[in-house]
Amino acid sequence: MNQSRTLLPMLGHTRGNRNAATCQFKCGNACAKDVCNTTDNGYFRDIADAALSRRSLLGLGAVASAALVVGTELLQAPSAHALPVAAPGSGGKLRFDAIAPVPRSSDTLSVPEGYDWSPVIRWGDPLFKNAPSFKITKQSAKAQAGQFGYNNDYLNVIVDKYSGRTGVLVANHEYTNEDLMFDPEWFAANKAEGVRIAMAAHGFSVVEVKRSRTSERWEYIRGGERNRRITATTVFRADGPAAGSELLKTAADPTGRKMLGTLNNCSGGTTPWGTVLSGEENFNQYFRGTGSATDARYGIADAPTERGWEDIDPRFSAHHRGFENEANRFGWVIEIDPQNPDSTPVKHTALGRFKHEGANIRIAADGRAVAYSGDDERFDYVYKFVSKAKYKRGDRRHNMQLLSEGDLYVARFSGDSPAGQVDGSGALPDDGEFDGTGTWLPLVLDGRSKVPGMSVEEVLVYTRLAADKAGATKMDRPEDVEPSPVSGKLYIALTNNTQRGTTGKAADDEANPRTRNRDGHVIELTERRNDAAATEFSWNILLVAGDPSKDATTYFAGYPKEKVSPIACPDNLAFDSKGNLWISTDGQPGTIGYCDALHKVTLAGNERGKVEQFLAVPAGAETCGPVIHDKDGSVFVAVQHPGEGGTFDEPISFFPDYVKSPGKVKRGEVYGPRPSVVQVFATGKGHGHRK
Ligand code: FEO
Ligand code: CA
Ligand code: CA
Ligand code: CA
Repeated sequence: MNQSRTLLPMLGHTRGNRNAATCQFKCGNACAKDVCNTTDNGYFRDIADAALSRRSLLGLGAVASAALVVGTELLQAPSAHALPVAAPGSGGKLRFDAIAPVPRSSDTLSVPEGYDWSPVIRWGDPLFKNAPSFKITKQSAKAQAGQFGYNNDYLNVIVDKYSGRTGVLVANHEYTNEDLMFDPEWFAANKAEGVRIAMAAHGFSVVEVKRSRTSERWEYIRGGERNRRITATTVFRADGPAAGSELLKTAADPTGRKMLGTLNNCSGGTTPWGTVLSGEENFNQYFRGTGSATDARYGIADAPTERGWEDIDPRFSAHHRGFENEANRFGWVIEIDPQNPDSTPVKHTALGRFKHEGANIRIAADGRAVAYSGDDERFDYVYKFVSKAKYKRGDRRHNMQLLSEGDLYVARFSGDSPAGQVDGSGALPDDGEFDGTGTWLPLVLDGRSKVPGMSVEEVLVYTRLAADKAGATKMDRPEDVEPSPVSGKLYIALTNNTQRGTTGKAADDEANPRTRNRDGHVIELTERRNDAAATEFSWNILLVAGDPSKDATTYFAGYPKEKVSPIACPDNLAFDSKGNLWISTDGQPGTIGYCDALHKVTLAGNERGKVEQFLAVPAGAETCGPVIHDKDGSVFVAVQHPGEGGTFDEPISFFPDYVKSPGKVKRGEVYGPRPSVVQVFATGKGHGHRK
């Protein structure tokens, strides 16, 4: 049996929280490679200095053993239902008892008592009438371009106001896992077509959805008028100050404005004017570079890529004459109008080029649109863009120009406790909080570069280098950066950074207070006067994530630790209509040992900091794109990379259809696993939905 056959060479793995396949396919083994940010922003440890004697001064040993007792109770919770210590959730119609954490090998999608789930759309489901039904062993690039793509990440379900029972589902397709998608024998003999299938499985989907008069269940519409696929070869228009720059021109596009495709789209955001933003994240792994310093800052190596796309399409290697700048055409925030399938999607150069996790908009006091975005890499930064023009409610055409011109800033965080009180252990400083103030440092202001020695075009194309010069604060991998629609406060998911505070790397600071931060944390940021356009802010850490039964340095805004669900590696954020924060995770299996999850976090009132687990995704998967329709009693999640770590021949997951096949898959058989969008809904029994 050829169970260990893998299609692409496994180069350079492995270290970090994820399984080897996720590291390889998702981010090109970023964790195994050198840190891209080698600037000296922040204080460096020259030795792996232990977290001082302060730990013992605070008596942390005693705290840890007390927490372990609690932990035994948590770990012995009898089933996937009803964590005994959790009270029913509050807010909206989504009442639930937190589920117990689910062991990481479980191939189930676990939901609370009173809820059920069903897939809305899966990888390979046809979007168009003339697209073929999915057959894993008869796949072609043409078929895939008409079907739902692979590895859905960002997700929204935008309900039509006029009907309330129709809408569009939008989803990113971040990356492909060839080990699960292809029969290895077929792939070996058909590599060029395999690569083209993978290209067509990347990008974005828009698909119409509907529900009947009597049901809250949504289903997708094959052949819906707004249905659309965007792939790695779709034409985009670049706009903003760097569009047309010499830095963006190639042999195929002498205008520097017409770009093909979008890659590694991770998270995103839906704008107040109804368009969808999406971040081109780990784009570097698709390109062979020249070894330049600018390439290095983005992790683009002068080496064959693991995907090998440069063997099929010359634009993926800077060694192909005329394509030296192709990689500069990725790493942007894109904007898509999901209501108009004929519209040309846009790459917004004004928002800067980095590994955008996503982008989310808040309207400032004076009406300008502010886009927040994290650069998801260890020791990289948090940014915001402030539009020049103002938002006009109802003027969609005008609003779709807002991200074309404006100011770009990067964040510097300062703690308010003496440095000696933040010792890397995660122990709270004497004032009882990791907190402080901060400044948005301008990179581009009023159309001018604020970075000495760099033009506006250079600042926007090489934004990481500009932010290095400005003195931004190195963060522990900023994922979603999302403003609460209820309070206006900004939440920043910092997923993890196991190199924090290690030899030669930036030390812990009050905003990133844990050495070797395995489990991540969440920052709550308040703009001055609660105005999104302010240049000063205050901040505090809301959660220091982890399993409180085993880790005394966890913190839940002061809420009793024995009453929370364990949580690690916060990634995507969402809010319900009451302003509760929902956090999906990416990395719990490799850290706290449980399947990735979706958690609700209460932000206001006397339960502030209470973390309650709502669901768990199956083996190998991470939870993405949570969408909380609490008024309808529905939650949607994008289940990304189910079964990762298995192979085509030997799957470890059969999600979502659980059609099992002993041994080799038969020709034409629909099999598993398939990345899918899932709706979780109240059944009307038990807690669930309150009508
Ligand atoms: Fe694709 Fe930042 O996770
Ligand atoms: Ca403090
Ligand atoms: Ca993410
Ligand atoms: Ca993720």
